[in-house]
Amino acid sequence: MDMGLTGRRVLVTGGSSGIGAAVARAYADEGARVALTYRGGDEAAERLARELGAGRHAAMAVRYSLGEPDTVESAVATVTERWGGVDVLVANAVRWAPRRAPGTRFEEVASGDWRGFLDDNLAPTLRTVQLVVAGMRARSWGRIVLISSHVALDGHRGQEFYGAAKSALHGFARSLAWDVGRDGVLVNVVCPGLTTTERVLTGLPDEIRERELGSTPTGRLSSPEDIAGAVLFLGSAANANTTGQTLTVSGGR
Ligand SMILES: NC(=O)c1ccc[n+]([C@@H]2O[C@H](COP(=O)([O-])OP(=O)(O)OC[C@H]3O[C@@H](n4cnc5c(N)ncnc54)[C@H](OP(=O)(O)O)[C@@H]3O)[C@@H](O)[C@H]2O)c1
Repeated sequence: MDMGLTGRRVLVTGGSSGIGAAVARAYADEGARVALTYRGGDEAAERLARELGAGRHAAMAVRYSLGEPDTVESAVATVTERWGGVDVLVANAVRWAPRRAPGTRFEEVASGDWRGFLDDNLAPTLRTVQLVVAGMRARSWGRIVLISSHVALDGHRGQEFYGAAKSALHGFARSLAWDVGRDGVLVNVVCPGLTTTERVLTGLPDEIRERELGSTPTGRLSSPEDIAGAVLFLGSAANANTTGQTLTVSGGR
């Protein structure tokens, strides 16, 4: 199937590791130009960009930090100056929060702790969409994929604020789909289940892994490449008329 991605300009936020890196690779494999963002890991990001750019289409690494609004503006500006615009946005960057201490209740989390967390995991993504969507409309073609989480659908003890931030993406996508649909721009959400990124593999207790596997129809956790496959379809020309939807990639859980 022709994904219609050759030469397309793809921006993957949080593309330097985990799911984002697999997404960046998947687009590069389809001949797209890929700009991947990092927050602190500039070496890993530059290495990946060099690898993806070698012998194929161009790739670049740019700094983008959810907590630093200037970097959101400058990252998009850099890609736009170099390549003239963004055709596909994959909004994948996340700010993780430490787990609540055992025995601490939801209502005991200080406002100062959760407000910034909620803001960082939502506002910069919406702003990034604002920055790229005008060009997509002008060219009558664009694809936006927002990365949510199974936590937004199923809930998870101790992840109320993460769940709130991710759930907001679903409502955002449903409404934005109406605003941009007649301009050739499709916006969708991918909801990964627990995914075998390096971060997850190093921190996952055996009993949680077994519990997850036991409640998953396919009997295995998703890999970053599994998530990338869904993102690639929704964020490509192969997706001709699907918008405002959520696709869960969790082995059927
Ligand atoms: N892994 C899972 O099981 C899972 C499950 C459900 C949903 N998800 C979602 O999938 C997405 C990717 O998750 P992942 O597990 O692949 O994450 P990850 O391996 O921790 O990678 C996170 C990426 O985001 C960047 N990043 C971290 N903090 C940032 C910040 N404050 N501002 C901007 N960028 C930042 C990192 O760059 P640096 O390395 O340079 O900091 C890295 O490129 C997230 O939206 C997450 O919510 C993941």
